[in-house]
Amino acid sequence: MSVRGTDGYADAGPLPEPVARAVALARRAGFEQSCRPEQGRLLQALAAGAPGSVGETGTGCGVGLAWLLAGRRPGVRVVSVEREARLVALVRELFAGVPDLEIVHGDWTRLHAHGPFDLLVLDGGGNAKRSDPADPDLLLTPVGTLVVDDLTPLTAWPPTHAGRPDTARTHWFDHPSLLTTEVRLAPDLATLLATRRP
Ligand SMILES: C[S@@+](CC[C@H](N)C(=O)[O-])C[C@H]1O[C@@H](n2cnc3c(N)ncnc32)[C@H](O)[C@@H]1O
Repeated sequence: MSVRGTDGYADAGPLPEPVARAVALARRAGFEQSCRPEQGRLLQALAAGAPGSVGETGTGCGVGLAWLLAGRRPGVRVVSVEREARLVALVRELFAGVPDLEIVHGDWTRLHAHGPFDLLVLDGGGNAKRSDPADPDLLLTPVGTLVVDDLTPLTAWPPTHAGRPDTARTHWFDHPSLLTTEVRLAPDLATLLATRRP
């Protein structure tokens, strides 16, 4: 979970219209785990480079999804999966009528029926933090990009978490199908970015 999550938007400045609406929904719903604006701007930029499809695990209240929608080109398909029925209903209502968008209710693994994706954002399942990691060979197009948000910046190698090997991070660095790097977005926030090897 982000250190500040939804609260990070208090002083974020002007936001794309779908993002502002999703942040308002997150506040109304009391949902604190939205991606921070620094991460959102990265998602927007990456979505703008996706030629055909974007996937996301963990819709939440749709804040990260809104950044993806703000960046994607017309006609690019976006699929987001969320296991909490209440959140699915809220976000479906929020983005009703938005073309080429599907909010799927269920475990993140339901994304398999909709892939592969040019851009895959693992923000709720599949990210090797608390559940089995997604397989980039199944879910990414040949040179697709994978994003794992919400890490503390790397300060030592090998990375550790709570005194143990940080497998949520090393899984992606060591993955034979990926070239992975870490991008620091704020002094306390980093993201993993990986490209599938062609
Ligand atoms: C960090 S929040 C997502 C924030 C959202 N992506 C954003 O940027 O605003 C994580 C979400 O993932 C959902 N989630 C957690 N595990 C999941 C799983 N196995 N399958 C589907 N959704 C899951 C949680 O219910 C929660 O809404």
